[in-house]
Amino acid sequence: MTTAAESVARIPVFVDVDTGVDDAMALAYLLASDDAQIVGIASTGGNVPMEQVCVNNLGLLELCGAPDIPVSAGAPQPLVIPLRTAEDTHGPSGLGYAELPATERRLTDHDAAAAWVQAAHDHPGELVALACGPLTNLALALRLEPALPRLLRRLVIMGGAFGYKGNTTPVSEWNIAVDPEAAAEVFAGWGAAWGLDTPSHLPIVLGLNLTERVAMTPTGLARLAAAAGSPTVTMSVLDSRGTRSDAANPVIRVLEDAMRFYFEFHYDQGEGYLAHVHDPLAAAVALEPDLVRTAAATVDVELTGTLTRGMTVADWTGIWGRGPNALIGVDVDPAVFFERFTDRVGRYARGLV
Ligand code: BDR
Ligand code: CA
Repeated sequence: MTTAAESVARIPVFVDVDTGVDDAMALAYLLASDDAQIVGIASTGGNVPMEQVCVNNLGLLELCGAPDIPVSAGAPQPLVIPLRTAEDTHGPSGLGYAELPATERRLTDHDAAAAWVQAAHDHPGELVALACGPLTNLALALRLEPALPRLLRRLVIMGGAFGYKGNTTPVSEWNIAVDPEAAAEVFAGWGAAWGLDTPSHLPIVLGLNLTERVAMTPTGLARLAAAAGSPTVTMSVLDSRGTRSDAANPVIRVLEDAMRFYFEFHYDQGEGYLAHVHDPLAAAVALEPDLVRTAAATVDVELTGTLTRGMTVADWTGIWGRGPNALIGVDVDPAVFFERFTDRVGRYARGLV
């Protein structure tokens, strides 16, 4: 018998992550979405080394009892420069204080770049792709298959900062700063593939100007736990650092233990006891682009500036005389996003026990 959920046509989704607390939240959102089917996960080095990203991706799938979704290892290093990681932001393993279950799940024999290309060929014109980490593997995939932009239904990138401060240098955002050459190749590749007449196929790019407007709070997490039927003590800045979640639900427990580290990091940065959930917003937009308002622009990445390397420069008015290569997110209603997130992930977590 077909259940109501199964009768909904599922969007094939390929996701590239450097898991990462908020990447894990993004994966949870996709897994929780009845309208989506994750057809592959690419592991990219960034928040933690690529090998640890693989461990986190496989462990998350195990935690959620997910089907056998292919997870691929990516390039161990950015295209040109050595990898830098962000354990100060995401914790030593990338998932804050959370512990994932052991798993027998294994990586694919092919690498992440090949996985990108294979997924696009398996679902021509249908695949929705989401990049929530440095763009190393996407750039390598584009070298393998320059027609990749034309094969995808949609690409959403979390990266950059448009008319807004950086979080890695004063002007650059983490995902771009880790591998600026890869980001430049991706924007150039999409620019070459699509002209002014095809704006609907431009990648949707969500930078810090947008994602830093979307902050998870202890109250928001408590709402999520309640929606999962697993109420918890609401976290507080007054709690001892590293206090572990008392949630009975294992998914909520992992998300809370991961998010607490992220809250503490943001607090130490002077941003309050909260956390920007960049990647979950990007996941939601991948499934529902109307969640954000966008504006077309030509984006390029500064590669040589002594102070500005890794900056995403947007030409909004055509001064460069090149067609647009991105739809930049410029407005969002955080309340609508959080309603989606709480409903979907809460219901999903509730159903897993
Ligand atoms: C991005 O950087 C990473 O630390 C997060 O996972 C997110 O993808 C935000 O700048
Ligand atoms: Ca990320």
